[in-house]
Amino acid sequence: MISKSITETKKIAADFASTLRGGETIALEGEIGAGKTTFTQGLAAALGAEGLARSPTFTVLNVYPTGREPIKKIVHVDAYRLRTSEDILNLGLEEWLGQPDSLVLIEWPNMVEEVEVKTDYVVRIEMGESADERKIEIEKK
Ligand SMILES: Nc1ncnc2c1ncn2[C@@H]1O[C@H](COP(=O)(O)OP(=O)(O)OP(=O)(O)O)[C@@H](O)[C@H]1O
Ligand SMILES: [Mg+2]
Repeated sequence: MISKSITETKKIAADFASTLRGGETIALEGEIGAGKTTFTQGLAAALGAEGLARSPTFTVLNVYPTGREPIKKIVHVDAYRLRTSEDILNLGLEEWLGQPDSLVLIEWPNMVEEVEVKTDYVVRIEMGESADERKIEIEKK
């Protein structure tokens, strides 16, 4: 898909969100500033979780309640700052994976290779022809 604005990216994410049932793990790929967090914000907001920050603080793993069922929690991981295997294993990511009432979204999934993650979808975001254009591909694994 082609997105020409932040709003369009969030809409694409919201449409995708409506196909999810809970328990899915979504890997987000794309360079710095591609729109991985923007996509996550759109997806989370569509499911009822509004508080997702553009730049998560120094916390790598954040949990956002939706106040709804069946997806009660959105778990957002921004693995970019992870450096050591110890940091990665200390995240406690495993306890969130595959939980039927949660969704896990992982930015920079290659940084958490130490953890066995069964990815259900890969979202790839690439820069487009103009500054605000993005190419978004959603692959079901
Ligand atoms: N069509 C678009 N979709 C999404 N973001 C866009 C679009 N056009 C411009 N932008 C801008 O691109 C940036 C995307 O930032 P965002 O934090 O979502 O990227 P990211 O992939 O999460 O980066 P990082 O790897 O640093 O976490 C924002 O500054 C946003 O305003
Ligand atoms: Mg980001």
